[in-house]
Amino acid sequence: MNSPKRYTITAALPYTNGPIHIGHLAGVYVPADIFARYQRMQGKDVVFVCGSDEHGVPITIKAKKEGVSPQDVVDKYHKIIKQSFEDFGISFDNYSRTSAKIHHKTASEFFKKLYDAGKFTEETTQQFYDEKAEQFLADRFVVGTCPKCGFDGSYGDQCEKCGTSHNATDLINPKSAITGAIPTLKETKHWFLPLDQYEGWLKEWILEGHKKDWKPNVYGQVKSWIDDGLRPRAVTRDLDWGIPVPVDGAEGKVLYVWFDAPIGYISSTKEWAEKTGRDWEPYWKDEDTKLLHFIGKDNIVFHCIIFPAMLKAEGGFILPDNVPANEFLNLEGNKLSTSKNWAVWLHEYLEEFPKQQDVLRYTLTANAPETKDNDFTWKDFQARNNNELVAIFGNFINRVVVLTNKYYDGIVPKPGNFSEVDEQTLTELKAYPAVIASSIDRYRFREAQAELMNVARLGNKYLADEEPWKLIKTDEDRVKTIMYVALQIASALASLCEPFLPFTSQKLKSMLDYGRSTSEAVINMSGVVFGEGVEENEWEQISAGKELLEPGHAIGEAELLFSKIEDEQIQKQLDKLEATKAANIADNKKAESQKEIATFEEFSKMDLRVGTIVKAEKMAKANKLLVLKVDTGLDVRTIVSGIAESFKPEDIVGKKVTVLVNLAPRKLRGVESEGMILMTENAEGKLVFLNPDEDGVKNGTVIT
Ligand code: MF3
Ligand code: ZN
Repeated sequence: MNSPKRYTITAALPYTNGPIHIGHLAGVYVPADIFARYQRMQGKDVVFVCGSDEHGVPITIKAKKEGVSPQDVVDKYHKIIKQSFEDFGISFDNYSRTSAKIHHKTASEFFKKLYDAGKFTEETTQQFYDEKAEQFLADRFVVGTCPKCGFDGSYGDQCEKCGTSHNATDLINPKSAITGAIPTLKETKHWFLPLDQYEGWLKEWILEGHKKDWKPNVYGQVKSWIDDGLRPRAVTRDLDWGIPVPVDGAEGKVLYVWFDAPIGYISSTKEWAEKTGRDWEPYWKDEDTKLLHFIGKDNIVFHCIIFPAMLKAEGGFILPDNVPANEFLNLEGNKLSTSKNWAVWLHEYLEEFPKQQDVLRYTLTANAPETKDNDFTWKDFQARNNNELVAIFGNFINRVVVLTNKYYDGIVPKPGNFSEVDEQTLTELKAYPAVIASSIDRYRFREAQAELMNVARLGNKYLADEEPWKLIKTDEDRVKTIMYVALQIASALASLCEPFLPFTSQKLKSMLDYGRSTSEAVINMSGVVFGEGVEENEWEQISAGKELLEPGHAIGEAELLFSKIEDEQIQKQLDKLEATKAANIADNKKAESQKEIATFEEFSKMDLRVGTIVKAEKMAKANKLLVLKVDTGLDVRTIVSGIAESFKPEDIVGKKVTVLVNLAPRKLRGVESEGMILMTENAEGKLVFLNPDEDGVKNGTVIT
């Protein structure tokens, strides 16, 4: 589909359990916004939708922690998140929320339709239950060790470390996130989407159909999912926060958040259509619509497998044409984390760098984690601003506008004959819209933005070579031509930068009194649509070499587009992160609170023995796991232990350890583990074998 009739662009609905940070912006919202703005500028019919993801366990957990209702939590963060998007110029046509009536209705009807058509299977299974809290433990209410990578903070539904999504009952050493208790199993009935039945279709549609056009990181993840074999996925949960399951016999059950949230894209489109008096259906049902999902890598399976299977089961919807997912952004070498406050929060950024949204947008795109995880550092942020935005882009514009005002009172001069350099420069300029567009069309936004900067470089070099400020004394006519050419480059830049730097584009356009302003799209999130044949297509005009600013046109006064960021400003941000680090270390040092009382009978059930590690090797493809052979005095047995990051296999052979020998055997990545080695942490938080005296372990450190 090369030139579709319309675009439906979605950006992942953010969870409404906290504000948003640079990671969200870099991975999802800035690329989606660049794409949407660019398509609108080409006169395309675009709807760009998003909204708050307000159901799901994290929100309930947050509410419990704060002693407020889930609705209070989502109301608070919906407002903050929506404001951040507006502040950073993310030009959604509609920003909805999944607690909206229209969404409840849309999601319920979707479920009901699949239910009535017999698309679900019904199963009674054993689910984790917290006896103390008297509730089922869905998804994030359970934490434990990931069966795939051995990460010990995995959630019930998904491991944040390796991205695998699984069932809570697959976790090793599961614990309730509410009370810390070890959960029991209890029977409950749920509805499942039989993904296994979609395997053949998915193989054909994605593995064969999208091998070339989907990003390798996306394609690879999907392939490994399908190759591992798909299993039925429960689409309902035993929870009280969410959309009630709309069928009889489903009291106390709600739709699984990952079932309802993607339907939020449809609800948001409907809401937009209602507000603007349009028909939503072609945006989701017409084959000539290109549906695109912008997401982070942890959402790939949901957007490439589960949601498409839902759409396919429904039967009336189009499928995504592409899912250009990004990898993750880190901050100063460490993973961004809401709970550890390791983040640059958008609302806080604007307090420190008022009106400098574009500087952040620029830096995040320049370092976008498009093919691998990437790092945001404050030093790089400063360098990008000072050496690129100020020194190249800003400097060029400033020279053009200041000199035009100085020499011609701000009136575009009439050029004389073009020299070879002029011709060459204007020819080069003409090529840029296509070059930038080709990168955007392939979702290569860093590359596209780098090309944009080359336009500013072209202008800078042109002025530096032609030196109008010297010629003004000797050849006034030549200067007119030079300034005319420079003004064409400046106005082209104003238009070409719009998808990337919308605030700068607007400022520059008003400075030059050129083209249409983007202010409406920036401020108004309720369905401003440009183009559709009414406005001139600026990029096409640049490509065609049309005159963008004609002689006699009056430009305005020079204003600074960017300003230098000083070392002190950067140091302040670095100090803030240091303080966060110190606070986290202090937090970690606090002893965990005591668990529930164990009776003597309970304790004496544990059979603890001294053993010797006689063999140790790394488990293939698992970063954390070692496969050990341990001589327990009873036998030599296999124990899989999540200690590979703390010990080299060759260093631990021969070590004496404490072993829990009667722990129920568990399979870890296909290897049966028959016991557990007791471990604890030393003062630096590193795992050590239980030998508190030698290792200087602090009082209160938990033995695991
Ligand atoms: N809330 C999810 C997250 O932040 C994304 C939901 S995307 C949707 O990871 F498709 F479900 F809407
Ligand atoms: Zn994992």
